[in-house]
Amino acid sequence: MKKDQYILGIETSCDETAVAIVKNGTEIITNVVASQIDSHKRFGGVVPEIASRHHVEQITITLEEAFQQAKLGWEDIDAIAVTEGPGLVGALLIGVNAAKALAFAKNKPLVGVHHIAGHIYANRLEQAFTFPLLALIVSGGHTELVLMKDHGHYEVIGETRDDAAGEAFDKVARMLHLPYPGGPHIDRLAAKGKDEIPFPRAWLEQGSFDFSFSGLKSAVINTIHNAKQRGKHLSEENIAASFQASVVEVLSKKTYDAAVYYNVKQVIIAGGVAANKGLRASLERKFTDVDIPLLIPPLNLCTDNAAMIAAAGSVAYDQGRRSGWDLNADPSLLIK
Ligand code: KG4
Ligand code: ZN
Repeated sequence: MKKDQYILGIETSCDETAVAIVKNGTEIITNVVASQIDSHKRFGGVVPEIASRHHVEQITITLEEAFQQAKLGWEDIDAIAVTEGPGLVGALLIGVNAAKALAFAKNKPLVGVHHIAGHIYANRLEQAFTFPLLALIVSGGHTELVLMKDHGHYEVIGETRDDAAGEAFDKVARMLHLPYPGGPHIDRLAAKGKDEIPFPRAWLEQGSFDFSFSGLKSAVINTIHNAKQRGKHLSEENIAASFQASVVEVLSKKTYDAAVYYNVKQVIIAGGVAANKGLRASLERKFTDVDIPLLIPPLNLCTDNAAMIAAAGSVAYDQGRRSGWDLNADPSLLIK
């Protein structure tokens, strides 16, 4: 009988110090996430220097907690998977160096993982993949459509040309004086408002699966400024609802069109913005109509965690991918 496989995952690309252990690529044994959101809140966004410092403080504590919860020892671990990029370089370096030191000391194989591959594989902790599949990754740093014809093979068919979807949510939230991260607050307000302000939808060229959100962001900012200058009151709920409607319409139509174009068997969404209720509802409606199964991970697996890195790392490990001692943090690593 084949022995069970245990992968230790480490993620420190942004403002979460996370360590997880995943069994056979699909089962979470433990998933510890130390969030720093409270430290960044008062600055209205993630401060890279503060993020790095927190990761240094948290990494060993998080590791110990993961092993304690899992009731496993180092002898059980088959390999160490770590996010090598993209992300904040100083933050990534803490995870990469911890992983390298542990792999060396404990004599374990080391597997560098792309952060987006992790977000995609978060879904495999819930359900098996059927190929070809299309993944929509929407987070604070990413907006990408990725086509996968097999495990571990990623083809970016569309991406943002400027702001990421989550970034647009956070910037609009800031304009409305909402706390960081603003996405969940916009989502909550949008549910109470009406989509009555005609904000633009950036469709770009015919047939393009790329995105652009900076024009929309500017339109929202201008609308708020103009209303202020004229002493006119705009309902925050309606601004949130109209802004969200624009983002959701573009994201779901492009995802739908790409899914039909590539004739995929499954659509998955990933990243923090996948938590958005409007986006979930719109995608569910669209894909139920055409009978393409849609996978949306539970909230705790939408946002940054290390179980997703271990899950993606498990596939890479099975495919024989290994990183050397020269593994380095790459803030703009491409997915391949
Ligand atoms: O994946 P994630 O945790 O971190 C990155 O890798 O960026 O995503 C965080 C982003 C933030 O921009 C946050 O505002 C957004 O996800 N977000 C949401 C919602 N929940 C989180 N955006 C819209 N609606 C939400 N419910
Ligand atoms: Zn992320």
